[in-house]
Amino acid sequence: MTIEVRTIRLTASQDRLPALLDLLDDDERARAQAFRFPHLAAEFIQSHAAMRTLIGKQTGLRPRAIPLSKGKYGKPRVAGETGFEFSISHSCGLASFAFSTQGPVGIDIEKIRVLEDCDALVQQFFSHSERDELGHLRACEQLRAFYAVWTRKEAYLKALGTGLATPPRTASVTVDPDAAPAVAGASESAQACCHWHLVDLRVDAGYAAALAYSGELCPVTMTETVDIAVLLADC
Ligand SMILES: CC(C)(COP(=O)(O)OP(=O)(O)OC[C@H]1O[C@@H](n2cnc3c(N)ncnc32)[C@H](O)[C@@H]1OP(=O)(O)O)[C@@H](O)C(=O)NCCC(=O)NCCS
Repeated sequence: MTIEVRTIRLTASQDRLPALLDLLDDDERARAQAFRFPHLAAEFIQSHAAMRTLIGKQTGLRPRAIPLSKGKYGKPRVAGETGFEFSISHSCGLASFAFSTQGPVGIDIEKIRVLEDCDALVQQFFSHSERDELGHLRACEQLRAFYAVWTRKEAYLKALGTGLATPPRTASVTVDPDAAPAVAGASESAQACCHWHLVDLRVDAGYAAALAYSGELCPVTMTETVDIAVLLADC
């Protein structure tokens, strides 16, 4: 059983985008065209082209021919029996992907920046215990802890496949960025805590990222972050 994490720098130039758009299906192309801001469209196109390329490596299918569908709450999956599950996250020029052969997996990556609405986000998304623990940290430690909680929790919600349909305040993760990450409490059932593993990922300077997976503890392999051109040239 393995979990594999890949992170790709979305550095394709504008003139490469039509070829990458060509790798996407109709639904993805429609989504790409609906973005108001070109840089968001470019990030979407590149992250989905990278996702299809990586899935192609796993399945032997051509990227464009990969039949993608979505779970009830929007989690993407490859239709049919593949023997693996995956998760995708992208933020400010980087996309991370997790592939698991032992069950549900979720990944989240966030560019670290000072947020003006940080307090409001904490009130809205953090559980009581997370708010309490964060409030006891020194001000200079809070930003790193905020992103640790955010990425850990979002990875967990994405592994569950529910995303925001599970109210984020009802799930708790550990807050200390220097301590082992873990799901500290979840509303579904007390048992839920036992089946989930969280891993903090070092993907690139200035980013926070986390992985959640279920099942047995197993090694997580992380390949060096590369530009999308390197990934595509490798195929
Ligand atoms: C889509 C969602 C799951 C993540 O949003 P995000 O952080 O803006 O974006 P990310 O780049 O990390 O992930 C987006 C990808 O997750 C995938 N995704 C969508 N719904 C999903 C779900 N229910 N479960 C797992 N993955 C999902 C999609 O493929 C999406 O990529 P795409 O839009 O390019 O197709 C969001 O709707 C959500 O529910 N997030 C949880 C938010 C939250 O509670 N944050 C607080 C944490 S404290």
